[in-house]
Amino acid sequence: MTNPYEDAFQRSITDPEGFWGEIAQDVHWYKRWDQVLDSSNKPLYRWFVGGKLNTCYNALDYHVDDRGRGDRIALIYDSPVTHTIQKYTYAELRDTVARFAGVLAGRGVGKGDRVVIYMPMIPEAAIAMLACARIGAIHSVVFGGFAAKELATRINDSQPKVVVSASCGIEGQRIIAYKPLLDEAIQIASAKPEHCIIFQRPQQEAALVHGRDIEWSAAMAVASAVDCVPVAATDPLYILYTSGTTGQPKGVVRDNGGHVVALKWTMKAIYDVDEDDVWWAASDVGWVVGHSYIVYAPLFKGCTTILFEGKPVGTPDAGVFWRIISEHKVKCMFTAPTAYRAIRREDPDARLIKDYDLSHFKALFLAGERSDPATIQWSEKHLGTPVIDHWWQTETGWAIAANCMGLHRFPVKYGSPTKAVPGWDVRVLDDENRDLPAGTIGALSVKLPLPPGTLPTLWQNDQRYIEAYLTEYPGYYKTADAGMIDEDGYIYVMSRTDDIINVAGHRLSTGAMEEVLAGLPDVAECAVLGVEDALKGQVPVGFLVLNAATVREPNEIIQDAVQQVRKQIGPVAAFKMAAIVKRLPKTRSGKILRGTIQKIADNREFSIPATIDDPQIIDEIKASLEALGLAGKKK
Ligand code: COA
Ligand code: AMP
Repeated sequence: MTNPYEDAFQRSITDPEGFWGEIAQDVHWYKRWDQVLDSSNKPLYRWFVGGKLNTCYNALDYHVDDRGRGDRIALIYDSPVTHTIQKYTYAELRDTVARFAGVLAGRGVGKGDRVVIYMPMIPEAAIAMLACARIGAIHSVVFGGFAAKELATRINDSQPKVVVSASCGIEGQRIIAYKPLLDEAIQIASAKPEHCIIFQRPQQEAALVHGRDIEWSAAMAVASAVDCVPVAATDPLYILYTSGTTGQPKGVVRDNGGHVVALKWTMKAIYDVDEDDVWWAASDVGWVVGHSYIVYAPLFKGCTTILFEGKPVGTPDAGVFWRIISEHKVKCMFTAPTAYRAIRREDPDARLIKDYDLSHFKALFLAGERSDPATIQWSEKHLGTPVIDHWWQTETGWAIAANCMGLHRFPVKYGSPTKAVPGWDVRVLDDENRDLPAGTIGALSVKLPLPPGTLPTLWQNDQRYIEAYLTEYPGYYKTADAGMIDEDGYIYVMSRTDDIINVAGHRLSTGAMEEVLAGLPDVAECAVLGVEDALKGQVPVGFLVLNAATVREPNEIIQDAVQQVRKQIGPVAAFKMAAIVKRLPKTRSGKILRGTIQKIADNREFSIPATIDDPQIIDEIKASLEALGLAGKKK
């Protein structure tokens, strides 16, 4: 007996053009596509070639003009840190976005131009994104927790005409000045934007640079609204930089057509959410979850989306999630497991939940890192609803594996994000590119073509895209996650096969941290790896080997290392632990044994590799980890 999930899945694999071509009819097109899938330039694929549409039209104008739903609430800004709740109807949001599009157009921003957005979680961030989409400009949102240097790297790569930013962000009780970081980034960057548009927040205003900086409200006051510009389905909508294996982040490109088609479909198929439902993704617009599920998908679907400026705890307490779910009648929410771990740590019996009516709440979705069964079970118990783990990546833009609630709800197997979502032909491969049998761990890979809405390439770098993702397993997309698929088709995602770590749901490169540490004058050699953390999932730990000539105090050097990672990558890296060691454990061929160190730190069983050049060094590493409070302790 089949079910709607199996029917959809089979069709998506055997007839992707028919499957997605039908789904694409639910989207507003100025011109229908000539071809659903263009496979003429393998391994690069293009979806909906010849089609013309506008992403902002599909998110806003379509609901106002074509559906007469302009009075429905599109966005609720809920900010416990500023004691603000502000609602925008679809018509209000459309008009504001159209006016901000006028501000951008007035500064010469047009189709194909890049706009960097460096904003806290305020509605203006979403407005700026949608305004870019409206005029065919390509936005590149940079997460606020990144330091000036990271912002500069992204400015250099994307060469924006304009940067949109705000005077400050609010992190819990603290005000974080954004503008000095932006000024520093522009100073470091070789590419200089012509203008910066700055949203002045009352909590802290920023000094503007004469001639370059423009104040948001002043510009809006005199701007006129501009209309949506039709763009090709294959034109880029945005670039989102994500950690790669080096300090140079990868510019993941998202196109317009496939993105609207796929994301709109996921709202019902995966999340079982309909038009008018209230939806909340508690993430940040700087991450892919924020792009896909705070801004775009819920608006394509005609939902009410919540934009939350706060933390799961401390703003003001561990009951804030329940308050928001109850007050705005949220049907489904999406966040990273770390957020629920934070709540659980503060309020283990979920006493605060009892103050709120959550009767309309239907499901919690978790992603961004592995969902530990304890967190899922705790959430199930206290919410009394399904808790759905799903697996995806910045590159994919939407879930590769999930329990598709709108198609068929499968029993949950803890530790698995359930099955491949329709569109994803997920395989487990060995080093020779061969399928591995059920239950065997290997490289989780996806048979090409990837479905619409995924990355067609990296920004102006087809070669890097092909080399990083499509070369190691010819004919497949390499997810860089290791895992397995069981006999029932349930996927298990075990670990990354590269040096990416997940810190509080934030994706970071230990390679990038090593680059910073290697640049310190006292450091001869270093290694950074992710160790388990009860709250954040993983946190980075550094090992430093000093230059023989160093005379500085070890503690001073460690402090310096911590400060430099914070300064050059950002506070989000949460790099707070480092140890000085005489040597790093290596194989005789010189490969640092990061995996062994990680196992020691995580109290997992390990064997000293036969190829190690000096087994005694392991004892020193163990002692350093113990001194950091890591190895040897029950977690
Ligand atoms: N702007 C400026 N600084 C930021 C920032 C932003 N947008 N976001 C985070 N930071 C800073 C924090 O202030 C903190 O700085 P500190 O070292 O001075 O304290 C640092 O970056 C680390 O932040 P964070 O990872 O958020 O840790 P935290 O200890 O403040 O909070 C959690 C821990 C679990 C509560 C928090 O990570 C959280 O809410 N996570 C939710 C998951 C999520 O949003 N994931 C995104 C992908 S779905
Ligand atoms: P990001 O690009 O920030 O979304 O991070 C993607 C990576 O996070 C994936 O490659 C996985 O390693 C990890 N990840 C995301 N979701 C899950 C999940 N549900 N289970 C296990 N790992 C996950």
